[in-house]
Amino acid sequence: MDLENKIAVVTGVSKGIGKATVEALLDKNVKVIGWGRTAPKGIYHPNFLFVNCDVSDVNSIARAYNNTIEKWGERIDILINNAGLGYFKLMEELTLSEWNEMFDVNVKGTFLCCKVILPLMKQNKLGHIINISSIAGTQGLSEGSGYCASKFAVRGFSQSLYKEARTFNVKVSCIYPGSVQTDFFKNYPAITTNDDMMKPHEIANSIVHVLETPDNILPVDLELRPMRVKM
Ligand SMILES: NC(=O)c1ccc[n+]([C@@H]2O[C@H](COP(=O)([O-])OP(=O)(O)OC[C@H]3O[C@@H](n4cnc5c(N)ncnc54)[C@H](OP(=O)(O)O)[C@@H]3O)[C@@H](O)[C@H]2O)c1
Repeated sequence: MDLENKIAVVTGVSKGIGKATVEALLDKNVKVIGWGRTAPKGIYHPNFLFVNCDVSDVNSIARAYNNTIEKWGERIDILINNAGLGYFKLMEELTLSEWNEMFDVNVKGTFLCCKVILPLMKQNKLGHIINISSIAGTQGLSEGSGYCASKFAVRGFSQSLYKEARTFNVKVSCIYPGSVQTDFFKNYPAITTNDDMMKPHEIANSIVHVLETPDNILPVDLELRPMRVKM
């Protein structure tokens, strides 16, 4: 897709991969609407609008959608389902509310954002949805049972949705990053963020690369791992 003047919704934009993705898209002259609970600091750009949105809440998403359409009209070309979180502990220590929060944000949030935006993409016969899963969506992790289950769900959802959407000229891709140097690890005591991890802007550049694939190429899955691994 030629990104110039396209309209994108990115979820979870306060920091980390979401904020870096907003910046990378603005650099490509994309009009970006950030849906999130917290506004990103330091992004003042005529092509950027922040809309308050809890992606786990259906009413909040409906309001965000209406605000988005009001701003730039009945068109959303790109949706990046990035908002997410993880709790890491032994399964029996994981609380029900932690389990529910991961599924509400990571899985239900992705479903609800697609549900409200995909019909518009189908109507316009143009669109690209990118869901951010994780390496944890491809393999189990000790102390990651709930998070892995939620990211496996994102993978199954994405791999089904691309088959439904492609006939309407809408691409659905799923990205599986390994460790990225963000605040994500605040609930993962076994891991300390370090400089060998991938950087948020590197994941953002990969997202742009996926979006820029030629019209006849559908990038279904992209696994991204750091080159250097702490032994
Ligand atoms: N970092 C990694 O190593 C890694 C690896 C693989 C996949 N991922 C995935 O990448 C995505 C981004 O993670 P990150 O590393 O950038 O983490 P991060 O720095 O902690 O950012 C997470 C973002 O999600 C937002 N968010 C959380 N719950 C939300 C909700 N209910 N509604 C709206 N926004 C919400 C947060 O907003 P608030 O500021 O308001 O909390 C924040 O903007 C997540 O889906 C994560 O699972 C991360």
